[in-house]
Amino acid sequence: MRIESDILVIGSGIAGLSYALQAANHGSVAIVTKRDISESATKYAQGGIASVFSAEDSFDAHIDDTLVAGAGVCHEDVVRMVVEEGPQTIRNLIEWGVKFTTSGESYDLTREGGHSARRILHAEDITGREIERALVEAVRQHPNIQVYEHHIAIDLITAAKVERRSLEHNRCLGAYALDKTNGRVMTFSAKITLLASGGAGKVYLYTCNPDVASGDGVAMAYRAGATVGNMEFMQFHPTTLFHPLAKSFLISEAVRGEGAILRRRDGTAFMEKYHKLKDLAPRDIVARAIDNEMKTSGDDCAFLDITHEPADFVRRRFPNIYQTCMEFGLDMTKEWLPVVPAAHYLCGGVAVNADAETDLPGLYAIGEAAFTGLHGANRLASNSLLEAAVYAGRAYKHSTGVLKTLQHDRRELPEWDASTATNSDEMVVVSQNWDEIRRFMWNYVGIVRSDKRLERAMRRIKLIQDEIEEYYWNFIVTSDLVELRNIATVAELIVTCAQMRKESRGLHYNIDYPERDDTAWKRDTFIKKQF
Ligand code: SIN
Repeated sequence: MRIESDILVIGSGIAGLSYALQAANHGSVAIVTKRDISESATKYAQGGIASVFSAEDSFDAHIDDTLVAGAGVCHEDVVRMVVEEGPQTIRNLIEWGVKFTTSGESYDLTREGGHSARRILHAEDITGREIERALVEAVRQHPNIQVYEHHIAIDLITAAKVERRSLEHNRCLGAYALDKTNGRVMTFSAKITLLASGGAGKVYLYTCNPDVASGDGVAMAYRAGATVGNMEFMQFHPTTLFHPLAKSFLISEAVRGEGAILRRRDGTAFMEKYHKLKDLAPRDIVARAIDNEMKTSGDDCAFLDITHEPADFVRRRFPNIYQTCMEFGLDMTKEWLPVVPAAHYLCGGVAVNADAETDLPGLYAIGEAAFTGLHGANRLASNSLLEAAVYAGRAYKHSTGVLKTLQHDRRELPEWDASTATNSDEMVVVSQNWDEIRRFMWNYVGIVRSDKRLERAMRRIKLIQDEIEEYYWNFIVTSDLVELRNIATVAELIVTCAQMRKESRGLHYNIDYPERDDTAWKRDTFIKKQF
């Protein structure tokens, strides 16, 4: 079955929905999303969205903090642009109905690691849920937007592949997507395709990302020939709840922003050994410090202590975290919370310019799927929702301009060919490979890496990929198989970039090159598939 629209959006978090709301005033928009529309990483964002909203703050301070966290490889022009466009972008969100927490006449601003001022707008401790609620409501009311829930994109459709065009005349023409409710593969034909498919935390065994975060957009873009960059910079959030029943529940950095202290089991507060900002040091430093403390003490977690703050304040400021911890039998107003780091945010992704264009014409990427240059080697807390919303606006302006020039462009696209595929009776291949990739990525390509570990990981990825490819082409495609193929591709891209970078910087720490090398490596890593 074939669906035609001017624009295809893949993903339904803040990036995809805020783009769609603007673009739909200029053309028809189809949104493809893997689960129900509100299931995205955005929904789980607790902390908030960083922007200059106070007289005590300044653009220069926000820019400086972003550059310092980014460890020398942020693109300064991009940082300035995102920071300066931040306040207006946030006003757009407010106009679409997002209700941020206020304090008197103004917005309540909180602090997180690496920020020199209070500049995080938030909606209690469920900021993402509030943003998603408002955007979904607005999208549902827009007559020009059609939402395809429970559809997982399989692959991008390119002119090089289906029309046998040369690579110089290549163009993205839409995507094939599997309707998970009936197993049918649909052909989504579009003049503009926007990837807003989020991150790839599921590549790692421990992650605070939701299950949808399997790097689909990055993997599809790479397979289609778009350039991908800085994949070695996977950010590990320092504090997810360590509890056998809590599926990687995040304890927001805002808890440390409001005074919480990291301790060893014996009570020692350890962060002052690692950074002058102590518990509010940039995230890479805090995650590595916890990893080191756990390894040297033999403890299986660290502890987060906010018991010195008034109980009323903690309950009021963090109602969701408080309530969830209580469900696990932990009262954060009276006891320390056991915490461990977990994969959280991919700073690299599909390489884009300031208008969110990839180097595959017709394909745009925004949000966590994109590599814009904002985050450098380590994202500053709460800059991601900001980046997604700012780039949604830029992508909308540029792509709808391009759309006007393509108004009469019509393509006949072939339907998905499943003629030789049969049903698999060996689904264990999928679950076995899924577990294996996530485990060796955690052990070999996690917070601390080495050349040997990276080599081991790469050897295993190659073996698994052969198996997946054989399986992929012979059996009827399922959602699990699509995601497995994508996490294998993303794992390969992370290891490849990590092997290229012969230094330690930000989120990439290799014990064989423990120093930062600004002479050779103050730059990005890029990969492009060779056809
Ligand atoms: C958090 O609330 O700690 C997450 C914020 C972020 O990752 O930007």
